[in-house]
Amino acid sequence: MKYRTMEKLGIKSSAFGLGCMRFNGEPSGDSIIDEQKAVSLIRRAIDGGVNYIDTAYVYLDKTSEIVLGKALLDGYRDKVTIATKMPKEAVKDRASMQALLDEELRKLQTDHLDFYLMHGIDKEKWEYFKSIGAPEFFDDMKKEGKIRYKCFSFHGPYEDFEYIIKDSDWDMVQIQYNFMDVDNQAGDKGLKLAGELGIPVVIMEGLLGGRLSKAPENVQKLYDDFPVKRSAVEWAFRWLCNHPEVSVVLSGCNEAEQIDDNLRIFDTVEPGIMSDDELKLMEDVRKAYQSRTKIGCTACRYCMPCPNGVDIPGIFAAWNNHSLYNTDLSSDWNLRMIREHDAGADKCIRCGACERACPQHLPIIESLQKAWAELTAG
Ligand SMILES: NC(=O)c1ccc[n+]([C@@H]2O[C@H](COP(=O)([O-])OP(=O)(O)OC[C@H]3O[C@@H](n4cnc5c(N)ncnc54)[C@H](OP(=O)(O)O)[C@@H]3O)[C@@H](O)[C@H]2O)c1
Ligand code: SF4
Ligand code: SF4
Repeated sequence: MKYRTMEKLGIKSSAFGLGCMRFNGEPSGDSIIDEQKAVSLIRRAIDGGVNYIDTAYVYLDKTSEIVLGKALLDGYRDKVTIATKMPKEAVKDRASMQALLDEELRKLQTDHLDFYLMHGIDKEKWEYFKSIGAPEFFDDMKKEGKIRYKCFSFHGPYEDFEYIIKDSDWDMVQIQYNFMDVDNQAGDKGLKLAGELGIPVVIMEGLLGGRLSKAPENVQKLYDDFPVKRSAVEWAFRWLCNHPEVSVVLSGCNEAEQIDDNLRIFDTVEPGIMSDDELKLMEDVRKAYQSRTKIGCTACRYCMPCPNGVDIPGIFAAWNNHSLYNTDLSSDWNLRMIREHDAGADKCIRCGACERACPQHLPIIESLQKAWAELTAG
């Protein structure tokens, strides 16, 4: 495992940080997290050198923190830094912020958090957090030793990112970034700005929620034709770690093989490691993807549940997969589930709730209709 120094904080973090947002449920369907498997995956990552673990109050129906707390028993807590988050929806004043933080500490079975983030903010959410005194609350909790670092995770346009990062004294920022998102959200400009301000950067959605792990034919051909052979996942992580501003790349793994693969990859990556030919390859890969992607849905599920039962990420996944991989629609799992649960776009009543919740600011309503027409044609 390669470690990177967060200069501002004087600590070393593993380049690979484990995300706790995407653990699978129990095969029986009884629980949203297969707890035994998740605990074993978390400990496997830590045993392999990971010392940065990311979760949030809302992940996996508010159970992610509980499972992480259990995984960090038996001496594992002392081996890692924990990042978790305060969602805007759960707080309205100092008392509710205090209650939330205390609940998170209880669930995580720890007396302090390392990184505490205002969750998924843009300018509007940041103004809300300021209006209820969140920055002062975070500063006070730092003084009390209940949190070590005041941070935010970001989903929004670059202009909002620039405003927020310059508007307070932050210890770390977490942004969505990957080779497809260089001009999206904080993007290249945001990463560079954070670097100039000396604020450590943690990356989320480095594989676009897993989409970049499965190269379509035209992308795979580019990888195959390159003299050095690497998997799509390795290329994506290598590209991220090439950036000196990046401290940690989060990845949410569901299988032991993925943990092991990522441990291997993050043992080889250093800032500035990519040659000009490799950088050119990734530019070509980006263009090849752009020619195929239907919609940039990352399956974060912030838009769910739809009050009318529409499976928004499922429909977009089926639409993208069909375009990227030429999947056979008659055997597409997502589409079958959507039909079984009567969760098609024909149920949409255009209430707009999903578009207000989407961190990618996608035109969900119109896209759903287009997607559904294509997926159900013939
Ligand atoms: N603060 C926020 O607003 C926010 C938003 C999003 C995410 N996050 C955090 O950031 C973390 C990382 O984001 P993410 O989960 O979207 O990360 P990601 O790395 O973009 O995607 C994770 C997915 O990539 C696939 N994957 C990972 N390693 C692989 C490997 N070696 N080989 C093949 N596939 C691999 C898995 O997909 P399959 O499931 O298809 O196998 C996994 O579920 C989250 O877990 C969460 O903690 C925060
Ligand atoms: S606009 Fe349609 S898809 Fe979106 S939340 Fe409303 S009913 Fe659901
Ligand atoms: S439509 Fe937006 S909010 Fe919904 S899953 Fe996709 S990216 Fe997330």
